[in-house]
Amino acid sequence: MAYETIIVEIEEGVAIVKLNRPEVLNALNSQVFNELADAAVNLSADDSVRSVIITGGDKVFAAGADIKQMASLNAVDVTTTDRQSRKTFHLLENMPKPVIAAIAGYALGGGCELTLVADVRIAADNAKFGLPEIKLGILPGGGGTQRLPRLIGAGKAKELILSGDIISAEEALRVNLVNKVVPADQLLTEAKKMAKKFAAQGAVALRLAKSCVNEGLRMDLEMGLEFEHKCFALLFATEDQKEGMKAFIEKRKPKFQGK
Ligand code: CAA
Repeated sequence: MAYETIIVEIEEGVAIVKLNRPEVLNALNSQVFNELADAAVNLSADDSVRSVIITGGDKVFAAGADIKQMASLNAVDVTTTDRQSRKTFHLLENMPKPVIAAIAGYALGGGCELTLVADVRIAADNAKFGLPEIKLGILPGGGGTQRLPRLIGAGKAKELILSGDIISAEEALRVNLVNKVVPADQLLTEAKKMAKKFAAQGAVALRLAKSCVNEGLRMDLEMGLEFEHKCFALLFATEDQKEGMKAFIEKRKPKFQGK
């Protein structure tokens, strides 16, 4: 698929997916969701890609779902568009490799919800976060009412969802919505640094570790521990486990093959 609303570049095992509708602050319309879904499937299957960065560049991440596209929809239309955005968010959240959201400027509504499907969020010091849907007479329908409370706790999530307030990068860091805040001109450099750190690890261990956390959050503790136990044991069938432990004993850096 040729992309028009996103740009995908791959360098040294790191894929950078850039939202590219600057004229409308990267508002997410159905074309963006389609293209993001296609990129998620392709990058998941591409073994040369070891980690992924989603960004909007250094000015804006995304100001939410495209209000102009949504304004005239009826309830039946929304069941279709909502299914499409849910599928895209699901594909991105479950990519079998680490996904980092690198966020500058506004990450509002669906834009903020897009950051929530990443494994790690790095914010530029000019980033602004919020779920302002309530001010449009709707609610966060891109997973915000579910993923945000799981990430930052129900109390703060409800405050943001019910007020529509927009918060700064510093406040986002304070409430654990983002992992770190960096100067705006360092955003992509910092995101790449972290992406490369992830990319240097064994691909199978990365995939199973991510899966343990994601799947575990949907289970009770006993089931989660059982799932973790099975994934842990499975890794002892990989060459990477042999290499990782051998390298430790030989006091050298491991060379993981993703096998
Ligand atoms: N959808 C469509 N167009 C958008 C948009 C959006 N979410 N956000 C901004 N734009 C457009 C504006 O209409 C404007 O286009 P025109 O020049 O053609 O008028 C252009 O982007 C620039 O925006 P502004 O002039 O408004 O820029 P600003 O700097 O004055 O304000 C802003 C920036 C505070 C982010 C403001 O644009 C804004 O409030 N945007 C909407 C934010 C929002 O409500 N997001 C939630 C959307 S609903 C949702 O996401 C549903 C869901 O849960 C999935």
